[in-house]
Amino acid sequence: MLKRSNLVLISVLAVLTLFVVAACAEGTENPFGTTTPVPTEGSSNPGTSNPEPSGPDIANGESKFTGLGCSGCHKTDSGKLVGPGLAGIAARGDEYIRLSITDPGAELVEGYANLMPTSFANLKQSDLDDLVAYLKTLN
Ligand code: HEC
Repeated sequence: MLKRSNLVLISVLAVLTLFVVAACAEGTENPFGTTTPVPTEGSSNPGTSNPEPSGPDIANGESKFTGLGCSGCHKTDSGKLVGPGLAGIAARGDEYIRLSITDPGAELVEGYANLMPTSFANLKQSDLDDLVAYLKTLN
């Protein structure tokens, strides 16, 4: 009788220990995953110890969209200009969007002529990434 209750006690303790260890492990992992500060727009912060890779800069993508003249031919809603409106373009996927910018003649949008300049093939990779990220926000 005594032996048996000892066994029960030991198992209970073992289970409790597992819970405590699991709780501790979570406690040390979570803060890094959830409290990473989001950099404020426009503030360049080189050399921070942020462990997460800094993603594309959507604000830069937006300023490139107007600065490079994309907005002269493309609306950000679904309206037609010289080129098609770009709302909802995210559904086509990153690769398609990239190619549409760097090699616009490769796959023409139905109903449109090959009027988009080919010069965007010379864009910096990071600017291209930012542009694609910005275009994907259009709905
Ligand atoms: C001189 C006008 C013009 C300029 C400037 C221009 N485009 Fe275009 N673009 C077009 C036309 C016309 C099409 C449709 C024909 C085609 O597929 O190339 C098009 C197609 C596209 C498509 C594919 C759209 C779809 O629905 O599949 C994307 C994405 C795009 N352009 C992005 C851009 C970006 C980003 C810029 C600026 C870096 C830009 N365009 C500048 C005229 C232009």
